Amino acid sequence: MSGPSPRSPNPGVGGDLVNQALSDYDQCVNPGLAWVWRFMGLETLEWQAQGAVVRDIHGREYVDFAGGYGVFTHGHRHPRVVEAVRRQLDMMPLSSRVLPSHLPARVGRLLAQITPGDLQYSFFCNSGAEAVEGALKFARVATGRSGFVATQGAFHGKTLGALSASGREVFRRPFEPLVPGFTHVPFGDAAALEAAVDENTAAVILEVIQGEGGVILPPDDYLTRARRACDRAGALLILDEVQTGLGRTGRMFACEHYGVVPDLLCLAKALGGGVMPIGAVVGRPPVWEFFRQSPLLHTSTFGGNPLACAAAVAAIEVILEEDYPRQAREKGEYLLNGLKELAGRYPSVVSEVRGLGLLIGLEVTREGAGGLIMSGLFDRGVLAVYTLNNQKVIRIEPPVVIDKDQMDRGLELLDQVLAEVAGVVDQL
Ligand SMILES: Cc1ncc(COP(=O)(O)O)c(C=O)c1O
Repeated sequence: MSGPSPRSPNPGVGGDLVNQALSDYDQCVNPGLAWVWRFMGLETLEWQAQGAVVRDIHGREYVDFAGGYGVFTHGHRHPRVVEAVRRQLDMMPLSSRVLPSHLPARVGRLLAQITPGDLQYSFFCNSGAEAVEGALKFARVATGRSGFVATQGAFHGKTLGALSASGREVFRRPFEPLVPGFTHVPFGDAAALEAAVDENTAAVILEVIQGEGGVILPPDDYLTRARRACDRAGALLILDEVQTGLGRTGRMFACEHYGVVPDLLCLAKALGGGVMPIGAVVGRPPVWEFFRQSPLLHTSTFGGNPLACAAAVAAIEVILEEDYPRQAREKGEYLLNGLKELAGRYPSVVSEVRGLGLLIGLEVTREGAGGLIMSGLFDRGVLAVYTLNNQKVIRIEPPVVIDKDQMDRGLELLDQVLAEVAGVVDQL
């Protein structure tokens, strides 16, 4: 690892490109985002990455504690995944959409093998939100009902249906009216959920752990009670494991911690091995019946394309062969202990540390402190970011391939930043 990372771009070619890119963002992509990057001092460009380390255009290195919000479980450019994609690139990158392809079939078979219970059939798409859209539609067609029960603070993506399931007003309100039929109940309150599920409910949709809501773990019996409420009412249970799935929390799927099998399971992020975008909805056989009559009722041009599926096959094989759930469990415990020790030393800044496996949230005592920590970490060479629906929680979600030295370095730099921020907070 190289030394600390100054905030301003170096002069010269790199600096010119940074300024050009930020002004292009400002004028041609997203002016608000360009402003935020400049305000946060992120005036650089990501350039190259390997494993748990990201390098910017100036060659500065950052320990990746953000992990692309769960995308980089395999780290950046895992050689097995890169090689599989490269091979497929030379064969046939995208599908003819006319002839069958063996690749989605292989990913479907692998997912049927690794998902719990009788989850068996897969629909492939390109993102987490699309997986959620698919699950919502499948629940409606399979039950003939239109209602959904979702939770406050949930994050399921930002397309219209996924947004309707999500639970944060600032993202929802500008786009109302949203898809009708959604009721939101507090996450973790099983009685409220039971009361909301009735004969009009097509499905209950839940994250097993609310990731963007601030890494919120449910009470131990919550999922079992949700499952039972669905069974009683003839509704389906959709679990959104877009972020928690595929080893991240120390089990292959987070629902396995609670012994609950959903009717529909949404996946994305890590499924592409950190190299390709791909999403999937995996369902139990009764839900898939409608595809027998109407195989084209729900489709996606790019969903399940050969490049993405080649990446997914390699990604799943690596997760199994390198036992990512065990690695996430062990490394997660190490990091959680280190973070708890830091929390104990800076109580005026950190109010709680919690998580499962390598999905950890560091909750700060006041909102402004999160931004200070993020930018202090960036200055020193660590990438970390707060959760989308809760800016008081910094996510610590590194790749599973992170090694002990990298974890120690991240903790040591966080220690320095917390000391600095405590100095500011203690003056207030
Ligand atoms: C649980 C969950 N569901 C859905 C999504 C949406 O995924 P995407 O951004 O790929 O649409 C996310 C993204 O963070 C997520 O965490």
